[in-house]
Amino acid sequence: MYSASLVALLCLASAIQGLDLRSSEEQPCFDIPKPKSPILEMDWLFSVKPIYYPLMNTIDLYHASVDLLQKNARDVSTSSVYYDACLTWEMFSNGTIFSKGFNGLQREYISKAVEDNPDAFTMEPVDGEKDVYSGTAYTTLTDNKTFFVQAGCLPSGQMAWGVGTTTPTLPEETKKKIIEHVISLGFKKDDITELKYDTCKDIKV
Ligand SMILES: *[C@@H]1O[C@H](CO)[C@@H](O)[C@H](O)[C@H]1NC(C)=O
Ligand SMILES: *[C@@H]1O[C@H](CO)[C@@H](O)[C@H](O)[C@H]1NC(C)=O
Repeated sequence: MYSASLVALLCLASAIQGLDLRSSEEQPCFDIPKPKSPILEMDWLFSVKPIYYPLMNTIDLYHASVDLLQKNARDVSTSSVYYDACLTWEMFSNGTIFSKGFNGLQREYISKAVEDNPDAFTMEPVDGEKDVYSGTAYTTLTDNKTFFVQAGCLPSGQMAWGVGTTTPTLPEETKKKIIEHVISLGFKKDDITELKYDTCKDIKV
């Protein structure tokens, strides 16, 4: 569920304990069909700075957060993810990807295009543990203007997805379209979650 009240409830329920990556698991990796022609305009993608990340499945948010923090999941509270992560991304044409958040943290990843699919790339952190947030990501939907949806398989064998956007919040219509899309791919409605930027210091919502 993606309602704000449910997010608040979840925060209350687990604010005192660390993140449970196991409980965020959605389902084992499945194949993403390859599009007949490229769907993502790369020049546009590399021009978006920063890329906001307002909608995803829970496992993607948890893994991206834990990897940026470089902590044990059990030492990260759910409320800190929802209120302090303020996660944004930067993607460069040379393959470098930065994730940024938690008041000034940054983590660097390197991505490589997948040969037979222009909408897919592999990515992994340039240093440290590679098994938390890495893998192959596929762009599955975009308007080449305001958002793109990427789905992929985490090293834990679990399927993840997330949405990159030009603005911290998504218009309701776009959100609805994206949710219909990820459900059509096989993702579950109950595992959809949202990252809000209202409490982020340097971001105007
Ligand atoms: C986005 O850009 C790609 C690559 O140029 C193009 O093939 C695709 O049709 C575009 N999609 C939309 C919705 O504009
Ligand atoms: C790619 O470009 C970015 C931005 O200029 C830079 O920070 C990064 O170090 C570059 N990466 C590589 C692998 O050269």
